[in-house]
Amino acid sequence: MTWIPIGKETEVPLAEMKRFTVEDTDIAVYHLNKGWYASIDLCTHQDCSLVEGEIENEEIVCPCHGGAFNIVTGKATRMPCVAPVETFPIRVVNGLIEVDFT
Ligand code: FES
Repeated sequence: MTWIPIGKETEVPLAEMKRFTVEDTDIAVYHLNKGWYASIDLCTHQDCSLVEGEIENEEIVCPCHGGAFNIVTGKATRMPCVAPVETFPIRVVNGLIEVDFT
């Protein structure tokens, strides 16, 4: 595993999300009650930015056509989304958010 620091824990308050660009890839970081999660910031339906959408419980609802994904697993949960969104391991160490792309 190669953990890459992408930002500070304080940049993403609880129940919110934020986009970070790492190595030319847009990553959506989600801060839920149950922990930290990361996915590619690209809906698998028509490439909309997921961080422009809304968090509903453990789902991210895409702003473009109302499709959704489970934030924890990346699995598509609402049409028109069918393909899962890619997720990444994430952790917070000493106040820094780190993701693993490998
Ligand atoms: S682009 Fe996300 S639901 Fe269509």
